[in-house]
Amino acid sequence: MSENESLSKPKSVILTCAQPTGNLTLGNYLGAVRNWSEMLDRHECYFGIVDLHAITTPSEPAVLRQNAYQCVAQYIACGLDPDKCHQFLQSHVIGHTELAWVLTCLTPIGELQRMTQFKDKAAKLGFKTAETDSPDGEIKFSHEGARAQASINAGLLCYPVLMAADILLYNADLVPVGEDQRQHLELCRDLAQRFNHQYSETFVIPEPYVPKTGSRIMSLADPTRKMSKSDDNDRATLFILDEPDRIRKKIASAVTDSGSEIRATADKPGVSNLLTIHSGLSGRPVAELEEHFSGKGYGELKSELTELVSESLAPVRSRYRELIEDKAYLKTVLAQGAAAAQKRAYKILAKVYRKVGFPERERN
Ligand code: TRP
Repeated sequence: MSENESLSKPKSVILTCAQPTGNLTLGNYLGAVRNWSEMLDRHECYFGIVDLHAITTPSEPAVLRQNAYQCVAQYIACGLDPDKCHQFLQSHVIGHTELAWVLTCLTPIGELQRMTQFKDKAAKLGFKTAETDSPDGEIKFSHEGARAQASINAGLLCYPVLMAADILLYNADLVPVGEDQRQHLELCRDLAQRFNHQYSETFVIPEPYVPKTGSRIMSLADPTRKMSKSDDNDRATLFILDEPDRIRKKIASAVTDSGSEIRATADKPGVSNLLTIHSGLSGRPVAELEEHFSGKGYGELKSELTELVSESLAPVRSRYRELIEDKAYLKTVLAQGAAAAQKRAYKILAKVYRKVGFPERERN
């Protein structure tokens, strides 16, 4: 490729979304948001706060509304510079549900019932699925689960189609997602291919984007499980807005492993997790940290980590406090993000509607 060509080549489009959360965890920060902020210069980036997805589980209107602002304020505080990317609310952009409907009509129900996350969420909502799938590939609900099945909302089942629409509505090239979303992205790729095949070439087939530096942060209370914002144990999860005192208490009570050596080995999930957090924030490789801590005890690891976490998050906390007081600014960021997103979304939706055979509306 000549230099000229490479200069004129449009930047690839990156899109990712997350449900609005008023409380990002350190895991969200190190595993996702911080990596996104490193992509802003090289790509055209869209970050959606997917409030339409959020209502698939019961949610309080006032909380949902507040979460949207807290979420965007945290993103900006974590380094997502609004001048370099488009941050928008899903509910502000027309097209997500429209495209989702078109895609729904290309999706067999059985494919949705087989989704791991649907099965997990359904199980959490109190109904059991049979251990094995029936020969036709659909989930058989056990007898006691049948009533609960009838009451589960269809939104939870259709969630992955809406997610596919979020991605295809922008013809995104790359989609940063966690391991738990890979199956959904696979469905999205299938749907894009199905549409292209049934009508004609329309959608880019999006690729999952797994950043080179991405660390999976585990629960402090049970290092075999992912750190989660909704953990029942309030010592399990570090939030990026935690005050130093909370950070100290949580790290002090973090589960460590038998023995006293500070090494990141499979039989030491607790210590490995603390080293991963350290490495994520200090930028020092884990091997170097093992060296650094050799001959030292768990207490020293914990106190050094406490200091590091508190110091690293201090600027995020203070920036957040300023931002959350400035609703007008946050609204402007979201309005600009939505305008840019809408412009792109309308074009692609219009193309889809045309291909499907919906007659164009006369503008007069
Ligand atoms: N389902 C994703 C999650 O729970 C959130 C999501 C919705 C998403 N739409 C998306 C992620 C589009 C990437 C692209 O984390």
